Amino acid sequence: MLKLKTVLVVAVCAVLLSAATVFASPIVIKFSHVVAEDTPKGIMANAFRDLVAERLEGKVVVEVYPNSQLFGDGKELEALLLGDVHILAPALSKFQKYTPLLQIYDLPFLFKDMEAIDRFQQGPQGKALLNSMKGKGIIGLDYLHNGMKQISSNNPIRTPEDAKGRKFRIMTSDVLAAQFEAVGAMPMKKPFAEVFILLQTKAIDGQENSWSNIYSQKFFEVQPYITETNHGILDYLVVSSTSFWDGLPADIRPVLEECLKESIAIGNKAAADKDMEDRQTIADSKRTEIITLTDAEREAWVEAMKPVWKKFEDAVGKENLEAAIASNN
Ligand code: SIN
Repeated sequence: MLKLKTVLVVAVCAVLLSAATVFASPIVIKFSHVVAEDTPKGIMANAFRDLVAERLEGKVVVEVYPNSQLFGDGKELEALLLGDVHILAPALSKFQKYTPLLQIYDLPFLFKDMEAIDRFQQGPQGKALLNSMKGKGIIGLDYLHNGMKQISSNNPIRTPEDAKGRKFRIMTSDVLAAQFEAVGAMPMKKPFAEVFILLQTKAIDGQENSWSNIYSQKFFEVQPYITETNHGILDYLVVSSTSFWDGLPADIRPVLEECLKESIAIGNKAAADKDMEDRQTIADSKRTEIITLTDAEREAWVEAMKPVWKKFEDAVGKENLEAAIASNN
């Protein structure tokens, strides 16, 4: 009898001890992204990790997985919904499967500069778009900048006709496909991690991206020309799954929100700095020629691509489009 009692006491202690260990274990937040660490998104993710480590020591640990090492852009949103990763910051062009509304950000020549984008994102329409995927289980926590997009290519591209018949890699957005189709080019939706090799092997002719991605992914080393078109934006939406985010303890979530806000400010500052720095480093490398357009040449691109707005007006919402246009003033 005494032996049985001893066994029971030991068993109860073991259960209590393991329960205590479970309750004491920190919440692990996996933050996965597809770019290099020294980019606006990489810098933001690492800053978030470090701020959380400072303010929620022992309670929350953020693990950052850069360079598509955990999930590539084809799989990361599915992984988020399955709970295999908890925070992502995909380019706004990659949410088409979950909402057509965010495609507004892909319309060519819609925003004249980053300030216009800020005005739209901080206005009522931009803020409402953060919640456009809630019904699909995705919560938009905030926007993060990268920069305006440029077109890199194997051949010099100055006029829309120069792009005709050429293959350009794009992100998974029908607006981006329509944008290249408008100038007679062939858009190809491909994951970010494959772009360098596709360019290097000349399986495609070119691609569009921000200066920071063209630099950090070494696209400029395998593309002899970059046309400074500033025709579109590459921005991100920092997202989590509603089930994960809403399930966080009430004393933890506000601290994480504060850390996110601060790390996004750090990422946005890096975006502004890197845009010019990375452009300059690319220019200094002499590996590629940067083609700048005259006003008339740029206008020819605007005219060729602008019909895309009409085509997607209903999908992105007329009110959103009007607000985006107004943000340029
Ligand atoms: C990114 O900046 O996250 C990737 C952009 C791209 O897929 O071109």
